[in-house]
Amino acid sequence: MDKYLLLLLVLSLASSLQCARILGVFQMPTVSHQSVFQSLWKELSLRGHDVTVVTPYPLKDPRLVNLTEIDMSYASDSMKRHGFQFFMRKEFAVHTKIPKIFAINYDAADAIFSNTEFIKIYNNSNEKFDVILVQTYISPIMYSLGYKLGAPVIGVASMGGYVGSHYAMGNPNPPSLYSEMFLPYNGKLTFYERFCSTLYYIWLRFYLTFVAIPRCDEIARKYLGNDMPYMGEIEKNLSLLFLTTNPIFYPPRPTVPTIIPLQRLHIKPPKPLPKDLQTILDNAKNGVIFFSLGSNVQSVNMPDRLRIVLNEAFSELPYTILWKYESVDLPGKPSNVIIKKWLPQQDVLAHPNIRAFISQTGLQSTEEAIDRGVPIIGMPFIADQSMNTRVVAEIGIGVGVDYETVTKEELKNAIIEVAENEKYKRNIEKLRDLMLDEQVPPMEKAIWWIEYVIRHKGTKHLRSPTVDISWIEYFLIDIAFVVLLISTIIIYSIYKIVKVLRNCNKATVKKNGKND
Ligand SMILES: *[C@@H]1O[C@H](CO)[C@@H](O)[C@H](O)[C@H]1NC(C)=O
Ligand SMILES: *[C@@H]1O[C@H](CO)[C@@H](O)[C@H](O)[C@H]1NC(C)=O
Ligand SMILES: *[C@@H]1O[C@H](CO)[C@@H](O)[C@H](O)[C@H]1NC(C)=O
Repeated sequence: MDKYLLLLLVLSLASSLQCARILGVFQMPTVSHQSVFQSLWKELSLRGHDVTVVTPYPLKDPRLVNLTEIDMSYASDSMKRHGFQFFMRKEFAVHTKIPKIFAINYDAADAIFSNTEFIKIYNNSNEKFDVILVQTYISPIMYSLGYKLGAPVIGVASMGGYVGSHYAMGNPNPPSLYSEMFLPYNGKLTFYERFCSTLYYIWLRFYLTFVAIPRCDEIARKYLGNDMPYMGEIEKNLSLLFLTTNPIFYPPRPTVPTIIPLQRLHIKPPKPLPKDLQTILDNAKNGVIFFSLGSNVQSVNMPDRLRIVLNEAFSELPYTILWKYESVDLPGKPSNVIIKKWLPQQDVLAHPNIRAFISQTGLQSTEEAIDRGVPIIGMPFIADQSMNTRVVAEIGIGVGVDYETVTKEELKNAIIEVAENEKYKRNIEKLRDLMLDEQVPPMEKAIWWIEYVIRHKGTKHLRSPTVDISWIEYFLIDIAFVVLLISTIIIYSIYKIVKVLRNCNKATVKKNGKND
Protein backbone atom coordinates (compact mmCIF):
# COMPACT_ATOMS: atom_id res chain seq x y z
CA MET A 1 0.00 0.00 0.00
CA ASP A 2 2.80 2.39 0.92
CA LYS A 3 4.47 1.60 -2.35
CA TYR A 4 1.33 2.59 -4.24
CA LEU A 5 1.06 5.83 -2.30
CA LEU A 6 4.66 6.63 -3.12
CA LEU A 7 4.07 5.82 -6.77
CA LEU A 8 1.00 8.06 -6.81
CA LEU A 9 2.98 10.86 -5.19
CA VAL A 10 5.79 10.51 -7.71
CA LEU A 11 3.30 10.41 -10.58
CA SER A 12 1.43 13.50 -9.43
CA LEU A 13 4.73 15.30 -8.87
CA ALA A 14 5.84 14.40 -12.38
CA SER A 15 2.59 15.59 -13.91
CA SER A 16 2.67 18.85 -11.96
CA LEU A 17 6.14 19.45 -13.35
CA GLN A 18 4.86 18.75 -16.82
CA CYS A 19 2.04 21.25 -16.57
CA ALA A 20 3.59 24.70 -16.68
CA ARG A 21 2.12 28.19 -16.81
CA ILE A 22 3.10 29.86 -20.04
CA LEU A 23 2.51 33.44 -21.14
CA GLY A 24 2.73 34.39 -24.81
CA VAL A 25 2.78 37.92 -26.21
CA PHE A 26 2.52 38.01 -30.00
CA GLN A 27 2.01 41.65 -30.80
CA MET A 28 2.39 42.21 -34.54
CA PRO A 29 -0.84 42.42 -36.56
CA THR A 30 0.25 40.25 -39.49
CA VAL A 31 -1.56 36.99 -40.30
CA SER A 32 1.35 35.09 -41.81
CA HIS A 33 3.56 35.60 -38.75
CA GLN A 34 0.73 34.79 -36.38
CA SER A 35 0.03 31.50 -38.17
CA VAL A 36 3.44 30.30 -36.99
CA PHE A 37 2.78 31.33 -33.38
CA GLN A 38 -0.76 29.96 -33.38
CA SER A 39 0.58 26.47 -34.11
CA LEU A 40 2.99 26.84 -31.22
CA TRP A 41 0.56 28.06 -28.56
CA LYS A 42 -2.09 25.54 -29.65
CA GLU A 43 0.39 22.67 -29.35
CA LEU A 44 1.59 23.83 -25.92
CA SER A 45 -1.98 23.93 -24.62
CA LEU A 46 -2.77 20.51 -26.10
CA ARG A 47 0.18 19.11 -24.21
CA GLY A 48 -1.47 20.13 -20.97
CA HIS A 49 0.31 23.42 -20.27
CA ASP A 50 -1.75 26.30 -18.96
CA VAL A 51 -1.28 28.87 -21.72
CA THR A 52 -2.29 32.54 -21.77
CA VAL A 53 -1.63 34.54 -24.96
CA VAL A 54 -2.05 38.15 -25.97
CA THR A 55 -2.61 38.37 -29.74
CA PRO A 56 -4.48 40.25 -32.46
CA TYR A 57 -5.32 36.84 -34.04
CA PRO A 58 -6.89 34.58 -31.40
CA LEU A 59 -7.85 31.04 -32.44
CA LYS A 60 -11.14 31.19 -30.48
CA ASP A 61 -11.35 27.40 -30.48
CA PRO A 62 -13.53 26.24 -27.54
CA ARG A 63 -11.92 22.79 -27.67
CA LEU A 64 -8.63 24.29 -26.41
CA VAL A 65 -9.59 24.19 -22.74
CA ASN A 66 -6.11 24.98 -21.43
CA LEU A 67 -5.81 28.15 -23.48
CA THR A 68 -6.78 31.73 -22.52
CA GLU A 69 -6.57 34.27 -25.33
CA ILE A 70 -6.57 38.04 -24.77
CA ASP A 71 -7.94 39.38 -28.02
CA MET A 72 -6.07 42.48 -29.27
CA SER A 73 -7.73 42.57 -32.69
CA TYR A 74 -9.45 45.85 -31.78
CA ALA A 75 -6.02 47.51 -31.76
CA SER A 76 -4.83 46.15 -35.13
CA ASP A 77 -5.97 49.18 -37.07
CA SER A 78 -4.19 51.63 -34.82
CA MET A 79 -1.05 49.51 -35.05
CA LYS A 80 -1.36 49.49 -38.81
CA ARG A 81 -1.87 53.24 -39.05
CA HIS A 82 1.80 53.59 -39.98
CA GLY A 83 0.95 51.87 -43.25
CA PHE A 84 2.78 48.57 -42.82
CA GLN A 85 2.17 47.51 -46.44
CA PHE A 86 3.21 50.88 -47.75
CA PHE A 87 6.49 51.54 -46.04
CA MET A 88 7.79 48.00 -46.31
CA ARG A 89 7.87 48.35 -50.09
CA LYS A 90 11.21 47.78 -51.66
CA GLU A 91 11.67 51.33 -52.98
CA PHE A 92 11.89 52.55 -49.38
CA ALA A 93 15.41 52.80 -48.07
CA VAL A 94 16.11 50.43 -45.24
CA HIS A 95 17.01 53.22 -42.81
CA THR A 96 13.46 54.59 -43.17
CA LYS A 97 11.85 51.17 -42.66
CA ILE A 98 13.50 50.39 -39.34
CA PRO A 99 12.18 53.51 -37.51
CA LYS A 100 8.69 52.72 -38.81
CA ILE A 101 8.80 49.13 -37.63
CA PHE A 102 9.83 50.48 -34.24
CA ALA A 103 6.91 52.94 -34.36
CA ILE A 104 4.46 50.03 -34.87
CA ASN A 105 6.09 48.26 -31.96
CA TYR A 106 5.69 51.34 -29.72
CA ASP A 107 1.98 51.48 -30.60
CA ALA A 108 1.55 47.75 -30.08
CA ALA A 109 3.24 47.98 -26.67
CA ASP A 110 1.00 50.90 -25.64
CA ALA A 111 -2.10 48.98 -26.74
CA ILE A 112 -1.09 45.75 -25.02
CA PHE A 113 0.10 47.30 -21.76
CA SER A 114 -3.17 49.30 -21.60
CA ASN A 115 -5.42 46.26 -22.04
CA THR A 116 -7.39 45.98 -18.78
CA GLU A 117 -7.47 42.19 -18.88
CA PHE A 118 -3.70 42.07 -19.36
CA ILE A 119 -2.99 44.68 -16.65
CA LYS A 120 -4.61 42.29 -14.18
CA ILE A 121 -1.97 39.76 -15.14
CA TYR A 122 1.26 41.74 -15.37
CA ASN A 123 0.47 44.13 -12.53
CA ASN A 124 -0.34 41.37 -10.08
CA SER A 125 2.57 40.10 -8.03
CA ASN A 126 0.72 36.83 -7.41
CA GLU A 127 0.84 35.90 -11.09
CA LYS A 128 3.64 33.40 -11.68
CA PHE A 129 4.72 32.08 -15.05
CA ASP A 130 7.32 29.44 -15.84
CA VAL A 131 8.25 30.95 -19.17
CA ILE A 132 7.22 33.89 -21.35
CA LEU A 133 7.21 33.69 -25.14
CA VAL A 134 7.48 37.02 -26.92
CA GLN A 135 7.28 37.73 -30.62
CA THR A 136 10.62 39.06 -31.82
CA TYR A 137 10.07 41.70 -34.43
CA ILE A 138 13.04 43.97 -33.83
CA SER A 139 11.78 45.72 -30.66
CA PRO A 140 12.69 44.32 -27.22
CA ILE A 141 9.97 46.20 -25.23
CA MET A 142 7.90 43.14 -24.35
CA TYR A 143 10.94 41.22 -23.05
CA SER A 144 10.70 43.45 -19.97
CA LEU A 145 7.73 41.34 -18.83
CA GLY A 146 10.29 38.67 -17.94
CA TYR A 147 11.89 40.90 -15.34
CA LYS A 148 8.53 42.15 -14.05
CA LEU A 149 7.08 38.65 -13.66
CA GLY A 150 10.36 36.94 -12.75
CA ALA A 151 10.28 34.44 -15.59
CA PRO A 152 12.72 33.49 -18.35
CA VAL A 153 11.85 34.86 -21.80
CA ILE A 154 12.06 33.16 -25.18
CA GLY A 155 11.98 35.35 -28.30
CA VAL A 156 10.04 33.81 -31.18
CA ALA A 157 10.48 35.16 -34.71
CA SER A 158 8.70 33.97 -37.82
CA MET A 159 11.61 35.07 -39.97
CA GLY A 160 15.37 35.41 -39.66
CA GLY A 161 17.06 37.57 -37.07
CA TYR A 162 17.95 41.16 -37.81
CA VAL A 163 21.27 42.73 -36.86
CA GLY A 164 19.99 43.85 -33.44
CA SER A 165 18.81 40.35 -32.41
CA HIS A 166 22.09 38.73 -33.39
CA TYR A 167 23.95 41.42 -31.46
CA ALA A 168 21.81 40.97 -28.33
CA MET A 169 22.33 37.19 -28.37
CA GLY A 170 26.09 37.57 -28.92
CA ASN A 171 25.83 35.79 -32.25
CA PRO A 172 28.49 36.36 -34.91
CA ASN A 173 27.03 38.54 -37.65
CA PRO A 174 29.79 40.06 -39.77
CA PRO A 175 28.29 42.41 -42.38
CA SER A 176 30.83 41.04 -44.85
CA LEU A 177 29.03 37.68 -44.92
CA TYR A 178 25.47 38.07 -43.65
CA SER A 179 23.54 41.02 -44.89
CA GLU A 180 20.41 42.21 -43.15
CA MET A 181 17.15 40.54 -44.13
CA PHE A 182 15.70 43.93 -45.06
CA LEU A 183 18.45 44.37 -47.65
CA PRO A 184 17.91 42.49 -50.92
CA TYR A 185 21.29 40.72 -50.81
CA ASN A 186 22.12 37.07 -50.50
CA GLY A 187 25.08 34.70 -50.79
CA LYS A 188 28.46 36.15 -51.72
CA LEU A 189 28.23 39.92 -51.50
CA THR A 190 29.84 42.15 -54.11
CA PHE A 191 32.11 45.02 -53.06
CA TYR A 192 29.22 47.49 -53.32
CA GLU A 193 26.88 45.22 -51.35
CA ARG A 194 29.45 44.78 -48.60
CA PHE A 195 29.92 48.52 -48.53
CA CYS A 196 26.16 49.12 -48.08
CA SER A 197 25.83 46.25 -45.64
CA THR A 198 28.62 47.68 -43.48
CA LEU A 199 27.29 51.24 -43.56
CA TYR A 200 23.86 49.94 -42.63
CA TYR A 201 25.32 47.91 -39.77
CA ILE A 202 27.11 50.92 -38.31
CA TRP A 203 24.08 53.18 -38.77
CA LEU A 204 21.81 50.62 -37.07
CA ARG A 205 24.11 50.23 -34.06
CA PHE A 206 23.98 54.00 -33.57
CA TYR A 207 20.22 54.18 -34.13
CA LEU A 208 19.55 51.37 -31.64
CA THR A 209 21.92 52.67 -28.99
CA PHE A 210 20.89 56.31 -29.05
CA VAL A 211 17.29 56.32 -30.31
CA ALA A 212 15.34 53.07 -30.35
CA ILE A 213 16.45 51.23 -27.21
CA PRO A 214 16.11 54.34 -24.97
CA ARG A 215 12.57 54.82 -26.30
CA CYS A 216 11.71 51.14 -25.66
CA ASP A 217 13.09 51.54 -22.16
CA GLU A 218 10.89 54.58 -21.58
CA ILE A 219 7.71 52.77 -22.69
CA ALA A 220 8.40 49.70 -20.56
CA ARG A 221 9.05 51.89 -17.48
CA LYS A 222 5.84 53.82 -18.07
CA TYR A 223 3.78 50.67 -17.53
CA LEU A 224 5.97 48.31 -15.52
CA GLY A 225 7.54 50.81 -13.13
CA ASN A 226 11.02 52.21 -12.70
CA ASP A 227 12.43 49.25 -10.80
CA MET A 228 13.96 47.59 -13.83
CA PRO A 229 17.37 47.12 -15.46
CA TYR A 230 18.04 49.11 -18.63
CA MET A 231 16.33 47.75 -21.77
CA GLY A 232 19.72 47.07 -23.38
CA GLU A 233 20.45 44.61 -20.53
CA ILE A 234 16.99 43.05 -20.66
CA GLU A 235 17.39 42.38 -24.37
CA LYS A 236 20.62 40.50 -23.73
CA ASN A 237 18.87 38.33 -21.14
CA LEU A 238 16.75 36.29 -23.58
CA SER A 239 16.92 32.63 -22.67
CA LEU A 240 16.47 31.52 -26.26
CA LEU A 241 15.72 33.01 -29.63
CA PHE A 242 13.70 30.95 -32.11
CA LEU A 243 14.44 31.94 -35.71
CA THR A 244 13.07 30.67 -38.99
CA THR A 245 16.41 30.43 -40.72
CA ASN A 246 17.07 26.97 -41.98
CA PRO A 247 20.40 26.47 -43.75
CA ILE A 248 18.59 24.90 -46.69
CA PHE A 249 17.06 28.16 -47.81
CA TYR A 250 19.36 30.73 -46.20
CA PRO A 251 23.16 30.71 -46.30
CA PRO A 252 24.56 28.46 -43.56
CA ARG A 253 25.82 30.45 -40.59
CA PRO A 254 27.30 29.87 -37.15
CA THR A 255 24.87 30.27 -34.28
CA VAL A 256 25.33 30.40 -30.52
CA PRO A 257 23.54 27.59 -28.65
CA THR A 258 20.75 29.93 -27.52
CA ILE A 259 19.58 30.55 -31.09
CA ILE A 260 17.32 27.74 -32.24
CA PRO A 261 16.65 27.52 -35.98
CA LEU A 262 13.15 26.26 -36.65
CA GLN A 263 11.10 25.93 -39.81
CA ARG A 264 7.74 24.82 -41.14
CA LEU A 265 6.02 25.22 -37.74
CA HIS A 266 2.83 26.40 -39.45
CA ILE A 267 2.71 23.64 -42.07
CA LYS A 268 0.07 20.98 -41.57
CA PRO A 269 -0.61 17.77 -43.50
CA PRO A 270 -2.88 18.42 -46.53
CA LYS A 271 -6.61 18.42 -45.77
CA PRO A 272 -9.37 17.68 -48.32
CA LEU A 273 -10.31 20.74 -50.37
CA PRO A 274 -13.79 22.30 -50.43
CA LYS A 275 -15.91 20.50 -53.06
CA ASP A 276 -16.08 23.32 -55.65
CA LEU A 277 -12.34 23.91 -55.46
CA GLN A 278 -11.59 20.21 -55.74
CA THR A 279 -13.72 20.04 -58.91
CA ILE A 280 -12.05 23.08 -60.45
CA LEU A 281 -8.56 21.72 -59.81
CA ASP A 282 -9.43 18.15 -60.88
CA ASN A 283 -10.91 19.39 -64.16
CA ALA A 284 -8.07 21.72 -65.16
CA LYS A 285 -6.60 19.47 -67.84
CA ASN A 286 -3.75 21.87 -68.79
CA GLY A 287 -2.80 22.40 -65.18
CA VAL A 288 -3.27 25.28 -62.78
CA ILE A 289 -1.16 28.30 -61.94
CA PHE A 290 -1.86 29.40 -58.39
CA PHE A 291 -1.51 33.13 -57.75
CA SER A 292 -1.55 34.67 -54.29
CA LEU A 293 0.28 37.64 -52.82
CA GLY A 294 -0.30 36.49 -49.25
CA SER A 295 -2.06 38.28 -46.45
CA ASN A 296 -0.06 41.51 -46.10
CA VAL A 297 0.19 42.45 -49.75
CA GLN A 298 -3.32 42.09 -51.10
CA SER A 299 -4.11 41.72 -54.80
CA VAL A 300 -6.98 44.23 -54.63
CA ASN A 301 -4.47 46.96 -53.77
CA MET A 302 -2.14 46.31 -56.68
CA PRO A 303 -1.34 49.10 -59.16
CA ASP A 304 -3.65 49.19 -62.23
CA ARG A 305 -0.70 48.72 -64.57
CA LEU A 306 0.23 45.43 -62.94
CA ARG A 307 -3.36 44.18 -62.94
CA ILE A 308 -3.64 44.85 -66.67
CA VAL A 309 -0.33 43.13 -67.41
CA LEU A 310 -1.38 40.11 -65.35
CA ASN A 311 -4.78 39.83 -67.03
CA GLU A 312 -3.27 40.11 -70.51
CA ALA A 313 -0.59 37.54 -69.79
CA PHE A 314 -3.04 35.14 -68.13
CA SER A 315 -5.50 35.39 -71.04
CA GLU A 316 -2.82 34.12 -73.44
CA LEU A 317 -1.87 31.10 -71.35
CA PRO A 318 -3.32 27.61 -71.73
CA TYR A 319 -3.56 27.06 -67.95
CA THR A 320 -6.32 27.68 -65.47
CA ILE A 321 -5.29 30.52 -63.15
CA LEU A 322 -6.48 30.34 -59.57
CA TRP A 323 -6.10 33.82 -58.07
CA LYS A 324 -6.57 34.80 -54.43
CA TYR A 325 -8.30 38.11 -55.03
CA GLU A 326 -9.90 39.83 -52.05
CA SER A 327 -12.96 41.20 -53.84
CA VAL A 328 -15.81 39.84 -55.97
CA ASP A 329 -15.01 41.97 -58.97
CA LEU A 330 -11.76 41.76 -60.96
CA PRO A 331 -11.91 44.30 -63.80
CA GLY A 332 -10.98 42.69 -67.14
CA LYS A 333 -10.92 39.14 -65.78
CA PRO A 334 -10.01 36.62 -68.54
CA SER A 335 -12.20 33.50 -68.82
CA ASN A 336 -9.45 31.11 -67.66
CA VAL A 337 -9.00 33.03 -64.40
CA ILE A 338 -10.89 31.96 -61.30
CA ILE A 339 -10.88 34.33 -58.34
CA LYS A 340 -11.55 33.46 -54.71
CA LYS A 341 -11.40 35.80 -51.74
CA TRP A 342 -9.72 33.22 -49.60
CA LEU A 343 -8.03 29.92 -50.38
CA PRO A 344 -6.59 27.18 -48.15
CA GLN A 345 -3.13 27.77 -49.58
CA GLN A 346 -1.37 24.73 -48.12
CA ASP A 347 -4.09 22.39 -49.39
CA VAL A 348 -4.29 24.03 -52.83
CA LEU A 349 -0.51 23.71 -53.23
CA ALA A 350 -0.82 20.00 -52.45
CA HIS A 351 -3.07 19.35 -55.46
CA PRO A 352 -1.17 17.47 -58.21
CA ASN A 353 -2.51 19.74 -61.00
CA ILE A 354 -0.78 22.85 -59.60
CA ARG A 355 2.06 23.59 -62.04
CA ALA A 356 3.50 26.76 -60.53
CA PHE A 357 2.92 29.29 -57.77
CA ILE A 358 3.11 33.04 -58.39
CA SER A 359 3.97 34.32 -54.95
CA GLN A 360 5.21 37.41 -53.14
CA THR A 361 7.73 34.94 -51.57
CA GLY A 362 7.00 35.72 -47.96
CA LEU A 363 8.90 33.16 -45.90
CA GLN A 364 5.80 31.20 -44.84
CA SER A 365 4.47 30.94 -48.41
CA THR A 366 7.89 29.93 -49.68
CA GLU A 367 8.18 27.18 -47.07
CA GLU A 368 4.74 25.92 -48.11
CA ALA A 369 5.73 25.84 -51.78
CA ILE A 370 8.89 23.90 -50.94
CA ASP A 371 7.00 21.51 -48.69
CA ARG A 372 4.47 20.79 -51.46
CA GLY A 373 7.11 20.77 -54.22
CA VAL A 374 5.58 23.56 -56.35
CA PRO A 375 8.06 25.78 -58.26
CA ILE A 376 7.78 29.53 -57.80
CA ILE A 377 7.47 32.72 -59.83
CA GLY A 378 8.56 35.28 -57.23
CA MET A 379 6.99 38.74 -57.30
CA PRO A 380 8.38 40.48 -54.22
CA PHE A 381 6.76 43.54 -52.65
CA ILE A 382 7.86 44.09 -49.06
CA ALA A 383 10.19 43.17 -46.18
CA ASP A 384 12.38 40.10 -46.79
CA GLN A 385 10.57 39.19 -50.02
CA SER A 386 13.17 40.64 -52.40
CA MET A 387 15.88 38.68 -50.67
CA ASN A 388 13.76 35.51 -50.76
CA THR A 389 13.02 35.91 -54.47
CA ARG A 390 16.73 36.27 -55.09
CA VAL A 391 17.33 32.99 -53.23
CA VAL A 392 14.53 31.27 -55.19
CA ALA A 393 16.20 32.23 -58.47
CA GLU A 394 19.74 31.43 -57.29
CA ILE A 395 18.93 27.93 -56.09
CA GLY A 396 16.86 27.25 -59.21
CA ILE A 397 13.46 26.54 -57.68
CA GLY A 398 11.83 29.30 -59.71
CA VAL A 399 12.36 32.71 -61.28
CA GLY A 400 11.76 36.28 -60.15
CA VAL A 401 9.90 39.15 -61.80
CA ASP A 402 9.79 42.82 -60.84
CA TYR A 403 6.18 43.91 -60.42
CA GLU A 404 7.00 47.50 -61.33
CA THR A 405 8.62 46.85 -64.68
CA VAL A 406 7.41 43.42 -65.79
CA THR A 407 5.79 43.30 -69.25
CA LYS A 408 3.14 40.92 -70.53
CA GLU A 409 5.71 38.95 -72.57
CA GLU A 410 8.16 38.68 -69.67
CA LEU A 411 5.48 37.47 -67.32
CA LYS A 412 4.14 34.95 -69.84
CA ASN A 413 7.63 33.63 -70.51
CA ALA A 414 8.39 33.38 -66.81
CA ILE A 415 5.23 31.38 -66.12
CA ILE A 416 5.73 29.06 -69.11
CA GLU A 417 9.38 28.54 -68.19
CA VAL A 418 8.59 27.53 -64.61
CA ALA A 419 5.52 25.46 -65.49
CA GLU A 420 7.08 23.60 -68.43
CA ASN A 421 10.80 23.28 -67.64
CA GLU A 422 11.08 20.17 -65.47
CA LYS A 423 14.27 21.40 -63.79
CA TYR A 424 12.45 23.76 -61.41
CA LYS A 425 10.16 21.00 -60.18
CA ARG A 426 13.14 18.64 -59.79
CA ASN A 427 15.13 21.25 -57.85
CA ILE A 428 12.32 22.12 -55.48
CA GLU A 429 11.60 18.45 -54.79
CA LYS A 430 15.26 17.89 -54.03
CA LEU A 431 15.18 20.89 -51.70
CA ARG A 432 12.08 19.51 -49.99
CA ASP A 433 13.82 16.19 -49.35
CA LEU A 434 16.68 18.08 -47.71
CA MET A 435 14.34 20.26 -45.68
CA LEU A 436 12.27 17.35 -44.38
CA ASP A 437 15.31 15.27 -43.41
CA GLU A 438 15.57 16.47 -39.82
CA GLN A 439 16.69 14.79 -36.62
CA VAL A 440 13.43 15.72 -34.89
CA PRO A 441 10.33 17.38 -36.33
CA PRO A 442 10.49 21.18 -35.82
CA MET A 443 7.47 21.32 -33.48
CA GLU A 444 9.01 18.66 -31.21
CA LYS A 445 12.23 20.64 -31.19
CA ALA A 446 10.44 23.88 -30.25
CA ILE A 447 8.46 22.24 -27.44
CA TRP A 448 11.55 20.47 -26.10
CA TRP A 449 13.49 23.74 -25.89
CA ILE A 450 10.60 25.58 -24.24
CA GLU A 451 10.30 22.83 -21.63
CA TYR A 452 14.09 22.84 -21.22
CA VAL A 453 13.94 26.53 -20.28
CA ILE A 454 11.10 25.77 -17.86
CA ARG A 455 13.01 22.90 -16.23
CA HIS A 456 16.21 24.92 -15.76
CA LYS A 457 14.62 28.33 -15.16
CA GLY A 458 16.53 29.92 -18.03
CA THR A 459 19.73 29.26 -19.93
CA LYS A 460 22.28 31.29 -18.04
CA HIS A 461 24.81 28.48 -18.57
CA LEU A 462 24.48 28.84 -22.36
CA ARG A 463 24.85 32.62 -22.52
CA SER A 464 27.35 33.68 -25.15
CA PRO A 465 30.39 35.38 -23.60
CA THR A 466 30.27 37.91 -26.45
CA VAL A 467 27.29 39.56 -24.76
CA ASP A 468 29.32 40.54 -21.71
CA ILE A 469 32.37 42.10 -23.31
CA SER A 470 32.69 45.49 -24.95
CA TRP A 471 33.35 45.96 -28.64
CA ILE A 472 36.83 47.18 -27.74
CA GLU A 473 37.57 43.78 -26.23
CA TYR A 474 35.71 41.89 -29.00
CA PHE A 475 37.71 43.51 -31.79
CA LEU A 476 40.93 43.23 -29.71
CA ILE A 477 41.43 46.96 -29.96
CA ASP A 478 43.01 47.11 -26.49
CA ILE A 479 45.37 44.26 -27.43
CA ALA A 480 46.22 45.91 -30.75
CA PHE A 481 46.96 49.10 -28.85
CA VAL A 482 49.30 47.33 -26.41
CA VAL A 483 51.05 45.43 -29.21
CA LEU A 484 51.49 48.68 -31.10
CA LEU A 485 52.77 50.43 -27.98
CA ILE A 486 55.29 47.68 -27.15
CA SER A 487 56.50 47.49 -30.75
CA THR A 488 56.88 51.26 -30.80
CA ILE A 489 58.87 51.19 -27.56
CA ILE A 490 61.10 48.37 -28.82
CA ILE A 491 61.70 50.02 -32.19
CA TYR A 492 62.33 53.36 -30.54
CA SER A 493 64.73 51.77 -28.01
CA ILE A 494 66.64 49.97 -30.76
CA TYR A 495 66.83 53.21 -32.67
CA LYS A 496 68.11 55.02 -29.58
CA ILE A 497 70.66 52.32 -28.74
CA VAL A 498 71.92 52.25 -32.32
CA LYS A 499 72.22 56.02 -32.24
CA VAL A 500 74.14 56.00 -28.95
CA LEU A 501 76.44 53.23 -30.19
CA ARG A 502 77.12 55.12 -33.40
CA ASN A 503 77.89 58.26 -31.44
CA CYS A 504 80.27 56.30 -29.23
CA ASN A 505 81.86 54.84 -32.32
CA LYS A 506 82.28 58.26 -33.86
CA ALA A 507 83.66 59.56 -30.58
CA THR A 508 86.21 56.73 -30.34
CA VAL A 509 87.08 57.12 -34.00
CA LYS A 510 87.63 60.86 -33.41
CA LYS A 511 89.60 60.20 -30.24
CA ASN A 512 91.66 57.59 -31.98
CA GLY A 513 92.22 60.02 -34.82
CA LYS A 514 93.43 62.69 -32.39
CA ASN A 515 95.69 60.24 -30.64
CA ASP A 516 97.24 59.31 -33.94
C1 LIG B 1 -5.60 20.25 -20.59
O1 LIG B 1 -4.57 20.03 -19.63
C2 LIG B 1 -4.62 18.80 -18.96
C3 LIG B 1 -3.48 18.74 -17.96
O2 LIG B 1 -3.26 19.96 -17.34
C4 LIG B 1 -4.50 17.66 -19.96
O3 LIG B 1 -4.61 16.42 -19.28
C5 LIG B 1 -5.58 17.78 -21.00
O4 LIG B 1 -5.38 16.79 -21.99
C6 LIG B 1 -5.56 19.15 -21.65
N1 LIG B 1 -6.71 19.23 -22.54
C7 LIG B 1 -6.67 19.82 -23.75
C8 LIG B 1 -7.92 19.71 -24.58
O5 LIG B 1 -5.74 20.43 -24.16
C1 LIG C 1 17.29 37.59 -16.54
O1 LIG C 1 16.44 36.47 -16.61
C2 LIG C 1 16.26 35.78 -15.39
C3 LIG C 1 15.39 34.59 -15.66
O2 LIG C 1 15.92 33.78 -16.67
C4 LIG C 1 15.64 36.71 -14.37
O3 LIG C 1 15.50 36.04 -13.15
C5 LIG C 1 16.51 37.94 -14.22
O4 LIG C 1 15.88 38.85 -13.35
C6 LIG C 1 16.74 38.60 -15.56
N1 LIG C 1 17.67 39.70 -15.44
C7 LIG C 1 17.59 40.82 -16.16
C8 LIG C 1 18.65 41.82 -15.96
O5 LIG C 1 16.67 41.00 -16.95
C1 LIG D 1 -0.24 48.73 -11.13
O1 LIG D 1 -0.64 48.76 -9.78
C2 LIG D 1 -0.24 49.91 -9.05
C3 LIG D 1 -0.70 49.80 -7.60
O2 LIG D 1 -1.00 48.52 -7.24
C4 LIG D 1 -0.82 51.15 -9.69
O3 LIG D 1 -0.37 52.30 -9.02
C5 LIG D 1 -0.42 51.21 -11.15
O4 LIG D 1 -1.04 52.31 -11.79
C6 LIG D 1 -0.80 49.93 -11.86
N1 LIG D 1 -0.28 49.96 -13.22
C7 LIG D 1 -1.06 49.99 -14.28
C8 LIG D 1 -0.37 50.01 -15.61
O5 LIG D 1 -2.26 49.99 -14.22
